[in-house]
Amino acid sequence: MSQENGMSRRAMLVKLGIFLNGAVGIFLAVPIVRFLLSPVTREKKFGYESWLSLGGLEQFPAGQTRLATYRNPVVNAWDGETDSIACWVRNVDHKTFQVFAINCAHLGCPVRWFPQSSLFMCPCHGGVYYQDGSRASGPPERGLFQYDYKVEDGKLLIKAGGMPTPGQPVANKVEGKATCA
Ligand code: FES
Repeated sequence: MSQENGMSRRAMLVKLGIFLNGAVGIFLAVPIVRFLLSPVTREKKFGYESWLSLGGLEQFPAGQTRLATYRNPVVNAWDGETDSIACWVRNVDHKTFQVFAINCAHLGCPVRWFPQSSLFMCPCHGGVYYQDGSRASGPPERGLFQYDYKVEDGKLLIKAGGMPTPGQPVANKVEGKATCA
């Protein structure tokens, strides 16, 4: 009788152990699976590939470069002001635009636009870029990163989901698309 009890207790403990191991396995697997599927799910869920408005064209006078901001397409409720991302918009001739990431192509410091000299300058290590975003001098090995853009209903839209990376080719503006040089 006590041997039977011992066997049933052991069987029960084995089943409990299998159940707990399975639960822990699932608990650990969920974030890994979510991470692996994120390239697929985030586009649909968070609009990574959606076009975001920088505002009406009247905000960007021809021949000038202006600061603009857009809301990060992937935000959390607690992000606060950090969900606001800045970029530089250059209206070349009222038909052609360039939208530059604000981050220096060297180590990512925010570059500033100096209309007096028509240069972008980086305060961190002295990187300098011409008004078309190409590299002028300093440590950066390439020009500023550019966003794809389009004009719709009098508004300037950018595809903001693709974050600039060093692997991204230098972009040139051709008919509304930033393309590889
Ligand atoms: S981060 Fe701009 S020059 Fe280094």
